[in-house]
Amino acid sequence: MVSHINKVAVIGLGTMGAGIVEVFAKAGHEVYAVDGSTELAERGKGFVTKSLDRAVAKGKLAEADRDATLARITFTAELADLADADLVVEAVPERMEIKHLIFTALDDIVRPDAVLASNTSSLLLTEIAAGTAHPERVVGMHFFNPAPVLALVEVIETVLADPQVVTAVRELALNLGKRPVVVGDRAGFVANALLIPYLARAIALYQTGKVSREDLDNAARVGIGLPMGPLTLSDLVGLDVVREVCEVMYDATKRPSDASPALLKQLVLAGRLGRKTGRGFYDYAADAGAGAADGTGEMTAAAAVVGQGELAGQLADLLAKAGVSVTSIDDPAADVTALAGSPLVILAGGPDAGCDACGGGECATADDDADATDCACCGDDAASTWFAQVAAVLDERSVVLTTDEESEFALTGTLSAQVTVLPLRVHLPTKGGQVAEFGIPLGAASQQLAMVRATLAGAGFVPVAGPARPGVVVDALLFQHLNDAVAMVDSGYATPQDIDTAMTAGCGYPAGLFAILDELGASAVADGLLEQAAIDPSIVPSPLLLEHAATGEPFLA
Ligand code: 3HC
Repeated sequence: MVSHINKVAVIGLGTMGAGIVEVFAKAGHEVYAVDGSTELAERGKGFVTKSLDRAVAKGKLAEADRDATLARITFTAELADLADADLVVEAVPERMEIKHLIFTALDDIVRPDAVLASNTSSLLLTEIAAGTAHPERVVGMHFFNPAPVLALVEVIETVLADPQVVTAVRELALNLGKRPVVVGDRAGFVANALLIPYLARAIALYQTGKVSREDLDNAARVGIGLPMGPLTLSDLVGLDVVREVCEVMYDATKRPSDASPALLKQLVLAGRLGRKTGRGFYDYAADAGAGAADGTGEMTAAAAVVGQGELAGQLADLLAKAGVSVTSIDDPAADVTALAGSPLVILAGGPDAGCDACGGGECATADDDADATDCACCGDDAASTWFAQVAAVLDERSVVLTTDEESEFALTGTLSAQVTVLPLRVHLPTKGGQVAEFGIPLGAASQQLAMVRATLAGAGFVPVAGPARPGVVVDALLFQHLNDAVAMVDSGYATPQDIDTAMTAGCGYPAGLFAILDELGASAVADGLLEQAAIDPSIVPSPLLLEHAATGEPFLA
């Protein structure tokens, strides 16, 4: 094997190839940048130059360094020029026959000790390697878009690969300032095998029409704290690429949730591939960067917040600051008749302490964090009693928001049928703000929904509306994503640490999936998933997740 990798060639100068050229050239390597024709090579030169110019304009790169970087790159349409390359990275479209043509041609061009790598995101490396004269020198070198920004490089080893080649490519990635993770040859590798099903599920949810594209993106970006929402990210990755990886994943897993959603197929067939064609889920010509439309509703003038505890206090404060006249009821013994006719009533958690009979806080089933909703000592349900009193005075003039299952349960059968009840989930704040999401029940009037949205936005939340089903949007996306990561560990393919590196360094996640999971607690995630699974049998909590939920053992030491 070649002792030192200096001269590098990158074949295919689309978004990824051009980014990879930039990474190598910036790190001081001499680079052959190759595409199928002089025009395509020129187009690739345009991509690289534009990216370097942007870095200069932002003051991140000196003009002299840009010029020196460009001077290290030879743009060409001739594979024959690559005879002295130490490493070739192929980044052409994901078609096995094209890859085979290129790799077999390279067999006759490069030195026998040169390393051949593929940036494939969906094809099996073993199949690419097996078609070459020297399969032991073929590995995967999978970069993430935008390659100059994201640190992850998945180094894919096959059963045919020489371990020395794998080590050399890993070290090369480290020298490029990247974070390599060495993985086996499996559909989607680590990052795509987790990311793409998550994107597909988000697209499938969008396709139902039950959530807007902006709300869906805000649920992930603001609600979970990810750098981009799934539709914006799909547009960045390229809808054709998302679809290809979906199909490869589905072929491998046969899980319905991995299948390419019909809408994704239609957009690809229509040539709407995302940013690279100017249009995908979003139209980059007309509404680039458009945020959530907050609707045309008006905030409520008055609201009541019923409940003890932090959330009730926070909601009452924020609404009052937004100019809403707020009635706060935080004592289960208080008279609730004044709530009649209140346009918005928020049931925010039950009593902190136990029921009257147990003297408060002595309930056998109440723990420190939970509201005492199921008082074992007196057989009463403190929250039900309280909320039933509230329910008794409400009629169709009110919209009720319930912040937890307890209050929703307490209302069952106690409310007049005309009262609209929406589940409300207030998520922890992230860098982008704080999501308050509400579920839309069947038959809800659009003015009421617009009022709820406007009121939540007025109180400073990022509102997200989705189906009134377990998980609504944020936890529906997050918990299944977490479950997939646990299933991957359970299969023995990757460790929690490798998965966290992949998702933080490859997809810009602020925290790894296992860091998030440990923070939430395996039992909370398992409970949430079991609720989701009750209405969608395709959701199956991983046995390993259930074991961690049962033992309380964290995933990360
Ligand atoms: N090339 C070079 N630099 C770029 C760039 C590009 N195409 N796009 C953004 N940048 C730089 C910006 O110049 C900026 O640098 P600075 O902070 O030093 O000024 C930095 O990245 C941040 O960019 P912005 O401020 O414009 O915007 P954001 O803070 O929103 O970051 C992002 C943009 C880096 C794309 C971030 O949103 C992100 O990490 N998103 C997730 C992307 C992701 O998940 N990629 C993986 C997709 S899967 C994949 O590629 C595998 C494939 O096989 C499917």
